[in-house]
Amino acid sequence: MRAARRLDSLPIYVFALLDAKLKMARAQGVDVIKLDIGSPDGPPPADIIAALARSASEPTRHGYAGYFGTPALRRAMVDYYASRFGVTLDVVNEVLPLIGSKEGIANMALAWLDPGDLALVPDPGYPTYRMSAYMVGAEVYDMPLLAENGFLPRLDAIPSEIAQRARLMWLNYPNNPTGAVASLSFFEQAVDFCRRYQILLCHDAPYADVCYDGYRAPSLLAVPGAKEVAVEFNSLSKSHNMAGWRVGMALGNATALAALVQIKSNIDSGIFLAVQDAAVTALTGDQSWIAGRNAEYQERRDLLLDVLGNDWGLSVAKPQAGLYLWPQIPVGYTSASFADRILLETGVSVTPGSAFGPHGEGYLRISVGQTTQRVRVAAERLRGFRF
Ligand SMILES: Cc1ncc(COP(=O)(O)O)c(C=O)c1O
Repeated sequence: MRAARRLDSLPIYVFALLDAKLKMARAQGVDVIKLDIGSPDGPPPADIIAALARSASEPTRHGYAGYFGTPALRRAMVDYYASRFGVTLDVVNEVLPLIGSKEGIANMALAWLDPGDLALVPDPGYPTYRMSAYMVGAEVYDMPLLAENGFLPRLDAIPSEIAQRARLMWLNYPNNPTGAVASLSFFEQAVDFCRRYQILLCHDAPYADVCYDGYRAPSLLAVPGAKEVAVEFNSLSKSHNMAGWRVGMALGNATALAALVQIKSNIDSGIFLAVQDAAVTALTGDQSWIAGRNAEYQERRDLLLDVLGNDWGLSVAKPQAGLYLWPQIPVGYTSASFADRILLETGVSVTPGSAFGPHGEGYLRISVGQTTQRVRVAAERLRGFRF
């Protein structure tokens, strides 16, 4: 017996490898502080949890949920896009609830790419864009995200024969892992580019509500006409501290969403109705707590920036959004060897930039998703680290 050959082209998910290292460190008695993975440390507000409990206690909320999400959830998602981003969407054809955005991202490749098709993916980037293309036998063209371009891909550097072959482009702002943000005018250029070459533009925006210093991230769908070529993925995981609940959404181009639901209806059977009901509460209730939560992240960002920039003297940008710092490592190390040394000597776990693609080499990704008290301890340990 053997597993499918397609697994040969898939490296083990980076965080599974990291977990093995952490187990070893913990077995040696190290108090590990995990600044590697980007999961919010806090729970959602009590009214969201109460809505889940209330709905879960209803006898009628335990059956199969259907493929399209409840009308109330679809309406809440569309209304959220209208009030938060000024984007108007059709509640029937232009929104699709997902079991977390990761599921939708992976299934989008099944829905849109045939074997041998080409996907344009950011490098460094969230690994699922690349892996989902590989899983369906598609090819990947890397769009380098370089510091000198503000970690935006240079669309004019994509060769025209590549653009003509491409069927799908992934973008992600606020960006994981670089922490970069994109302006609406960059999104306009991306929409123009994808319209010219008839490429499905998939914009992944799960950090749009994790912003600092008064910044507000735009939606790509706010570009006039974007829906002709674009789908945006979003999620309650980071915006509402609901990463484990698995609620995401895809919005925009109706043809792409119809293809996605056709695939999904053969794979999953929807989101637990009680979770959908609680997600409605999350999206329609008081959103003011988000600013307080972001202020906490911002404090952690500043604690870590102080060490990386002032104590270590590394080149590191101050992110205006997202959960991550993206410092450049000192010469003489690979990102993996530097991350290993940090873990070994301080017990602080960070992610090597190479985990996100070849152009992530030379960087570390450091997350603010631990309590402020733990981040403070981590910052003190890191301050004493010599390299
Ligand atoms: C860029 C990006 N997209 C998607 C996801 C997946 O989020 P979800 O929890 O909605 O599946 C993550 C999670 O870390 C992410 O960083």
